[in-house]
Amino acid sequence: MAYESLRTWLRVLEQQGLFRWVDKEVDKDWEVGSVLRMIFRAMDEDNRYGIGFRNVRGFEDGRIVAGVTAASRRMIATALGCENNLEAIHACVTAGMTAPIEPVIVEGGPCKEVILRGDAVDLGKLPVPVWTPEKDAGPYLTPLWVTKDPDSGRRNIGIRRCQIKGRDRTGILFGAPDRGGAIHYEKWKRRGQHMPAAFFIGGDPVQYLVAPARYGADELAVAGGIRGAPIELVKCETVDLEVPAHAEIVVEGEILIDETEPEGPFGEFTGHMAGGREGPVFRVTCITHRREPIVMGVISQFPPSESSMIKRALLEAGLKKHLAEDLNLPGIRAVHALEAGGGTATLWISMRKMYAGHVDQTAFGVLGHFGMSYFKWIVVCDDDVDIEDPFMRDWVMAWRVRPDRDIRLIGDTAPVELDPSSFEPGRSGSEIRGAKMIVDATRKWDYPALSLPPPARMREVAENWDEYGLPPLDELKLPGD
Ligand SMILES: Cc1cc2nc3c(=O)[nH]c(=O)nc-3n(C[C@H](O)[C@H](O)[C@H](O)COP(=O)(O)O)c2cc1C
Repeated sequence: MAYESLRTWLRVLEQQGLFRWVDKEVDKDWEVGSVLRMIFRAMDEDNRYGIGFRNVRGFEDGRIVAGVTAASRRMIATALGCENNLEAIHACVTAGMTAPIEPVIVEGGPCKEVILRGDAVDLGKLPVPVWTPEKDAGPYLTPLWVTKDPDSGRRNIGIRRCQIKGRDRTGILFGAPDRGGAIHYEKWKRRGQHMPAAFFIGGDPVQYLVAPARYGADELAVAGGIRGAPIELVKCETVDLEVPAHAEIVVEGEILIDETEPEGPFGEFTGHMAGGREGPVFRVTCITHRREPIVMGVISQFPPSESSMIKRALLEAGLKKHLAEDLNLPGIRAVHALEAGGGTATLWISMRKMYAGHVDQTAFGVLGHFGMSYFKWIVVCDDDVDIEDPFMRDWVMAWRVRPDRDIRLIGDTAPVELDPSSFEPGRSGSEIRGAKMIVDATRKWDYPALSLPPPARMREVAENWDEYGLPPLDELKLPGD
């Protein structure tokens, strides 16, 4: 399923009850962020919808939408065009990774309806919200950034926060040095040249869902593979880069290599504010956009959020493919990146352990896949455990682990990106260190049987429950089933 533009996508969401417009006049500097937070703090997942504001104080015709990429699993499944269950979502993402479709370059597109250069460039004309009012350093976008490797010419796409600092100036955060954008920036620096960069907002939602893919994958080709049709790109006006033709807004320029200035703080996916350190500067050379452009944000900050939902869906699919198909490890059943950890701090894996070292091989396969800035806790358990069930995770930790024997600590290594427990005040760059813990929560021998009636007995009772004249049961959970 291909949704050509944000506007097509919003119509689909609206038809399905997954998006609503607000007509009340709102203040973008406190009210928009506070209303949007309700999606994740006051709605059950099944009831969540994205929200748009079309009466923004001080911005005639200005529109802001958010929560329109990953407010719920149902929304993600709709964007991907698959069934609303995790297995189908993983299969769809994996299919895009296995059979990517290269983007095509076209002559023009809606993102060129308005072209602004020189003095006409003014980011202040866009209604950009403050996401964590009274705490963020200013208005922020969460766009998709495009850069190219100066050696190979390979493209990279990543969602990165973008602090609006003036008419033609923004900040950017390269959160961890092992991500594509940061690697590109280091290469341009070594060449002594400013890095050409562009960011865009809007377009097919699948582009946002695949953006956190591992460095090396061409995210736009993966998105094409998922949609079953190539993404159409247009050439930028002032830099040698391409961006989606159907984007709402494109901002072109260069990331300077000889200037830094304070960036942040900004409410981050860890649930804490982060930043307020020196960061690179993006100097804007051109803005192109659709007529009456829509500013689209991705809700991050305290989990759960769109950030944790996106990372979870994407990282789980990529990891499962990596472990089971690329490394060909036997017995991998499920991979689950917990949303409380923003999708990048805590990982559970269930597997059928078959030989000595199998658990280590799996856990180190995870660390080797992404780079050390992902995952601080990796827990590997047997395949009889439903790792989606928080109670079962606690039960496994309680009864299948002997801490002195089953825990491996890897100290003095890279921290998980922006982890406040690693980011000591006064330290920067490679001085900031973190640690990993691998828990082997598999059974080390045949454990005693579970202290429950046999599953067949419980199933029989559940099936005939109405015979007992009692109120109906909820779900029957059978550990080890
Ligand atoms: C909503 C959201 C915001 C993000 N913001 C940033 C950011 O500011 N800086 C960053 O380095 N990564 C950020 N990420 C994570 C990147 O998208 C992720 O690290 C991705 O791997 C980067 O792609 P790359 O390795 O191909 O560059 C964000 C992810 C999401 C979902």
